[in-house]
Amino acid sequence: MLVHIGSIINKKTVGKYAVPAFNTQDLETCEAIARAGEAQRAPLIMQTSVGALEYAGVEELVGLMRTVARKSKAPIALHQDHCHDFNLLKKLVNLGYSSVMIDASHLPYQENLKLTKAVVHYAHKRGVWVQAELGRILGSEDWQNVKSGQDLMTDPIDAAKFVAETRIDTLAVAVGSMHGIPVNPKIKKVLSTLKEHIDLKRLRAIHEKVKIPLVLHGASGVPDTQMRAAIRLGVAIFNIDTDLRVAFNKALRQNLKKHPEIYDPRKLLRPAADALQQEAEKKIKLLKANGKFIHLERK
Ligand code: G3H
Ligand code: ZN
Repeated sequence: MLVHIGSIINKKTVGKYAVPAFNTQDLETCEAIARAGEAQRAPLIMQTSVGALEYAGVEELVGLMRTVARKSKAPIALHQDHCHDFNLLKKLVNLGYSSVMIDASHLPYQENLKLTKAVVHYAHKRGVWVQAELGRILGSEDWQNVKSGQDLMTDPIDAAKFVAETRIDTLAVAVGSMHGIPVNPKIKKVLSTLKEHIDLKRLRAIHEKVKIPLVLHGASGVPDTQMRAAIRLGVAIFNIDTDLRVAFNKALRQNLKKHPEIYDPRKLLRPAADALQQEAEKKIKLLKANGKFIHLERK
């Protein structure tokens, strides 16, 4: 069923379990995610990047997501991820997303504040949640230009001020996780010494000062123990993309190699989608979101 994000993320859920926000861009991914939610009786968020909307077309992908979500037994909320474009966000609010992210984290603080406030004003009037980012969550490839990751992390005092002034509903925090996986060998080498890990001390300090649900981006590759600790420290949503893609691609490649005679794309895509579903189910269990249909039904 298509639900509002507010019905799956609330005061009762924060600190106990978290909801995965899985990226999608096509039919196979949408259906595999929904199947994972049904199999694990878990609420979840289906989200799009700007790149995914460009790839599939806004109306096409939103139509697909809405249909899959509506037909699913799993409670599914739609969210737009990292977006700089206010006009695109307006369009998505009116197409049925219940949550959008205005990512102005690349702008100076005052400009981030101004743009975020304007989006909140627009979205809240229409009953839609807004997520914003303070600090910079980098892609792993960006680390070559960074001297110290600490400089880019979310400051707990700034975060409290930002949340109070903007009245956003969820906050994306920069506490050490990174988007994607490094492909450049030079960066791979640097990262093998850095290791992706969460600054739990900083996360605790943010959680003490900020009373809205926190979002951890770049959750692929974060060690399981740190994911679990982050839930206890107020992370209510984990954004996961790369790990699902890797599972899909691995199965697709293996199948292509094993069965060079297959020419029907459906026979190649289905096992890949099944692998993506299995990975999504693993993440759901890690976040303890499995079986939480019951929790929602009793609410
Ligand atoms: O916004 C998207 C995510 O933060 C996904 O990050 O690809 O590292 O899982 P990931
Ligand atoms: Zn992200």
